[in-house]
Amino acid sequence: MDFILNKKNSQREQWTSKLGFILAAAGSAVGLGNLWGFAYRSSQGGGAAFVILYILIVLIVCLPVFVAEMALGRNAISSSLIAPVKLGGKNWYPLGILFFIAPLGIASYYSVIMGWTADTFFHSLFFGLPKDLSEAENFFGSISSGSSVLLGHLLSLVLTAVVVSSGIKKGIEKVTRFFMPILFFILLLLAIWATSLSGAWEGYKTFLLKFELSQLANPQTIRNAFTQAFFSLSLGIGVMVTYASYLSKKSNLPKLSFGVALLDTLVGLMAGLITFPIVLTFGLSETISESTVGALFISIPTGLGAYGIAGRLVAVAFFALAYIAAITSSVSLLEVPVSSLMDKFGFKRGKSVCIITIILFLAGIPSALNLNILGIFDSIFGGVFLILGGFLVSFFMGWVVPGKLNEELNVSKVGTKTTRYLIFMTKWISPPIIGFGLVISIFDLIKGWMS
Ligand code: TRP
Repeated sequence: MDFILNKKNSQREQWTSKLGFILAAAGSAVGLGNLWGFAYRSSQGGGAAFVILYILIVLIVCLPVFVAEMALGRNAISSSLIAPVKLGGKNWYPLGILFFIAPLGIASYYSVIMGWTADTFFHSLFFGLPKDLSEAENFFGSISSGSSVLLGHLLSLVLTAVVVSSGIKKGIEKVTRFFMPILFFILLLLAIWATSLSGAWEGYKTFLLKFELSQLANPQTIRNAFTQAFFSLSLGIGVMVTYASYLSKKSNLPKLSFGVALLDTLVGLMAGLITFPIVLTFGLSETISESTVGALFISIPTGLGAYGIAGRLVAVAFFALAYIAAITSSVSLLEVPVSSLMDKFGFKRGKSVCIITIILFLAGIPSALNLNILGIFDSIFGGVFLILGGFLVSFFMGWVVPGKLNEELNVSKVGTKTTRYLIFMTKWISPPIIGFGLVISIFDLIKGWMS
């Protein structure tokens, strides 16, 4: 019996080390959401109120959810489709299904945006930047329609599939270990460069200091802050469940989640310190505050276009950075349904990757061809579903199987104070606050559709 158990456990891959996990999880968290989502959500009028709300949500709500997700995955030692059933019984299968469908929904349009990113990168590299706003809009129009968008979508999916099919250690961990340091380095260089812009101070002020109390009660700002917090940390749809299922029992879950959340938030803030100076220096506030999904792809190249060869270099670095950040995130989105198929049907990794990649290509076609559909996918799968998932995970670990949460904290020798704090938060604080955020978000979303 023992032998069989051991054999089973040794068949499941594990990260080579804690750092391997941190880089992979941070790689999942740091993505287009930090660069594109942060800029576009914070410029929808929330200003500093948005940033404050976002940070509060991360600290108070998301950290306990993060630990709860990891505890679920590590305790069940299975993919996110099966984990809720394993711990809580058949009634919780719908949660597993949510964890299967939501990452598919996000991944389907995420690769479309990756395609735009790659296109802008190559264009900046080989042809240069647009001369003015209308040229930039034309350019964005051309990359976000027709066959080039489908090609970008397909190639990004294939690239992601190649990494995921190589497995946890040789695929995801290896790629994130290689790329994450490069990403931090480029980010730092760009943030330093941005201080030299004439509108730098104006940018920081708009981003961090323009505080209006009333914004804290604005439903749109609240929805944006919740969405951004969950999306940016890759929470609510089973990514951390899946990643933690490859984690050793020795690792301290609260410490790991704190490390990942800190890295992710720093990257989000630093990205703001790059994009806002560019936007204000070149008078592009209007373009970005229209907050179409393409804002970043129009305003950044336009702004940098006025800066000659230096601007072009910066654009190349920025879009390379964005693509690197995106690939380490999209692999996490693919890993969730892939590992679920492997667990549920006993498929080989390669077969699961093929099936899911084909589904994603087809599911992404509407978003590729129509920006409105992409926006709808983003607000449902990348918004409401994450908040719903976060709510259910907290409720599940806090009320349905609290013993398992306790067990996971004890087994890695987390201090009693931290354990008590996390259990208290998971039971009493996260569910009502996320529930509140969910209701406001649903109303705000529907209101937006009606108007
Ligand atoms: N967090 C990533 C970003 O900021 C996107 C992402 C990857 C994601 N996996 C996720 C978002 C899971 C929500 C859930 O771009």
